[in-house]
Amino acid sequence: MSAKIISGKDIARAIRDELNERVAELASEGLTPGLATVLAGDDPASRLYVGMKNRAAAEAGIHSRQLTLPGSAGEAELLDLIADLNADPAIHGILVQLPLPRQIDESKVLLAVDPDKDVDGFHPVNVGRLATGDPDVLAPCTPRGVVEMLLRSGADPSGKHVVVVGRSNIVGKPMALLLLRRAPGGNATVSVAHSRTADLGALTRTADVLIVAVGRPKIITKEMVKPGVTVIDVGTNRVDDPGRERGYRVVGDVDFEGVSEVAAAITPVPGGVGPMTIAMLLANTVEAAVRLRRAGR
Ligand code: GUN
Repeated sequence: MSAKIISGKDIARAIRDELNERVAELASEGLTPGLATVLAGDDPASRLYVGMKNRAAAEAGIHSRQLTLPGSAGEAELLDLIADLNADPAIHGILVQLPLPRQIDESKVLLAVDPDKDVDGFHPVNVGRLATGDPDVLAPCTPRGVVEMLLRSGADPSGKHVVVVGRSNIVGKPMALLLLRRAPGGNATVSVAHSRTADLGALTRTADVLIVAVGRPKIITKEMVKPGVTVIDVGTNRVDDPGRERGYRVVGDVDFEGVSEVAAAITPVPGGVGPMTIAMLLANTVEAAVRLRRAGR
């Protein structure tokens, strides 16, 4: 069997087209959603991601502002900047790109963002709202994107056994919480595996849907999946490739060639989950703008 490819690129394009229309409608009502991205330091991958997010926002008609602090910036400087953005009526979404420089306490920074402008869904208030099943929560972009991919590719997780490999705050944990919700895209039976899971393959072979977010190439091979499984690969790993001009290529966490012989459907890397994360960031920004307007802010 050769798996169907779930193109995140195509699904993200469709979502962004829908958002373009929604943003135009809001503009005619006098509301321009605004997104601020904050980059501290000069990590090249983070700079690339933040640049892509800002370009995508601008393309959607969302007002976007990129704020850059040097890698030597102190915590107080970053907290002051966030306080200004919290108070700025033109800004509805605030995204602080992670990881932060070592001298800055990440949890303090995430706590400083107004939960109603927290388009990453990383503030503990939003984590709690997600855990308690609040349907209006701003949920983290990557797991939200995975849910959209499942629904729009005809792989509704309701009633299925979904195995999530990875327990990060950015992907694994919110992914499991979204899938558990009593809501469209939820109602799954969820198992979460991680680096201490004994016999990972025995668990992953029981998955109807397998979501992998570990950050290790080929951690999932074809012997570890059930025939007919749907596989979502969240990994983005750089591996050396002297054949490429830039010297590397990006691969996921799943052995794509092997697993696609067995799976019913699989996401590619690149062109899978990555474009969805950006589309959902735009969706969260538009939602935050509409809710802030409703709250009279
Ligand atoms: N770093 C890696 N992924 C993310 C993300 O989704 N949001 C932010 N802010 N930083 C990240």
